[in-house]
Amino acid sequence: MSRHFADITCTPGVRATQQRYLGAPLPTPAGNPEAILGDRERAFIAARDSAYLATVGEGGWPHVQHRGGPPGFLRVIDERTLAFADYGGNRQFVSIGNLAGQPKAALILMDYPNRRRLKLLAEITVLPADEADPTLVAAVGLPGAPPTERVMVLHIAAFDWNCSQHITPRYSARELAALDIPSTPSHP
Ligand SMILES: Cc1cc2nc3c(=O)[nH]c(=O)nc-3n(C[C@H](O)[C@H](O)[C@H](O)COP(=O)(O)O)c2cc1C
Repeated sequence: MSRHFADITCTPGVRATQQRYLGAPLPTPAGNPEAILGDRERAFIAARDSAYLATVGEGGWPHVQHRGGPPGFLRVIDERTLAFADYGGNRQFVSIGNLAGQPKAALILMDYPNRRRLKLLAEITVLPADEADPTLVAAVGLPGAPPTERVMVLHIAAFDWNCSQHITPRYSARELAALDIPSTPSHP
């Protein structure tokens, strides 16, 4: 676990639980307390075509939403900032409503073929498109998509790579096509 991720997630309750089951709280990891996305993280994020986005409502319940788009829909703005376009969708506005009360979110980004995953913690600013910097609005816009309604700006607080042990390799249609597997010969 990275230092910045542990600083946020290893709360007193988590540390007390580590004490109970492990005999001692996990030591604070070495490393940078600041979450700076390196080349590896930026390349990984830029290649993703989906993400799971968790927010927390006023009742304390987490809510997980799936977000997707063409690879790179989650734009890397700089080494601490991501952004993506948001639309009304099902008109429920659960994520946006949750973020209005508690602007913190967790994301899991999966690379199933390579069995990699990246977890992100971020503070999210929700900008109506007509109030956002036009350059930012243009940056999150997707080819063929309607005009962006809102820009979700993610200020990265922490990230962490997970172990790949239990990730089953899966392939999207696009990834399968890129593998260029010869078709199975038909049998008489
Ligand atoms: C025109 C339009 C385009 C959309 N494009 C995407 C998209 O590219 N990716 C995505 O994950 N969701 C897309 N959605 C769905 C919504 O963004 C999303 O489901 C919605 O905000 C509900 O989430 P919430 O209730 O958690 O806020 C689109 C919705 C509409 C109406």
